[in-house]
Amino acid sequence: MTQQKGRFITFEGIDGAGKSTHIEAVAARLSAAGHRLVCTREPGGTPLAEHLRELMLHTPMDPLTEALLVFAARRDHISTVIAPALQRGDTVLCDRFTDASFAYQGAGHGLDTALLAWLEAQVQGDLQPDLTLWFDVPPSLAQQRRAAARAADRFEQQDLEFFARVRAGYESRMREAPDRIVRIDGSLTTQEVGQLVAVQIDQALGPQR
Ligand code: TMP
Repeated sequence: MTQQKGRFITFEGIDGAGKSTHIEAVAARLSAAGHRLVCTREPGGTPLAEHLRELMLHTPMDPLTEALLVFAARRDHISTVIAPALQRGDTVLCDRFTDASFAYQGAGHGLDTALLAWLEAQVQGDLQPDLTLWFDVPPSLAQQRRAAARAADRFEQQDLEFFARVRAGYESRMREAPDRIVRIDGSLTTQEVGQLVAVQIDQALGPQR
């Protein structure tokens, strides 16, 4: 789909895995080192996709409707933000991408993964992240972190068994794409996780000055 020059890095994990803190740290470090960055998120990242995000997070709907909305949002996000940024040579940091659809709608809610793979191919063409950092934490620890941090949205109200399935969904995506998806042990301290993340980012982009 794109004559890609920039690097596309995505961050994944169950709600409460701690990824947001690390995306901010990565963005600050790369900006300081002079990288041209686009920091974005899914669902979201464009006015249309942010509308779809609000609907999805707060309106009850079935898993197929959810999947269609996240892929609609993704299509708009790719064509108006991600692909142009990569063509300019910018580094794109994205908080969640298609692995989340396989983990949440697929493994979590039981939607057919062949259908998700079809949507992925239609919406993305051959665009895939260069690197995906999967922040892996036990669902019980993620739940404690969420409770301490914020009021739950529709997704965060799911039970521990749901998040165990989502976690397993990420694990099976990693097995299918071991060169792209790197598991980060998110149960370590923030500082330790930050160091692991920095090593992976530097491997993907080259060491930062
Ligand atoms: P966030 O709180 O990390 O921004 O994510 C919003 C929620 O959207 C989160 O609970 C996971 C969910 N989600 C999906 O279910 N499918 C998707 O494809 C994406 C990108 C997010």
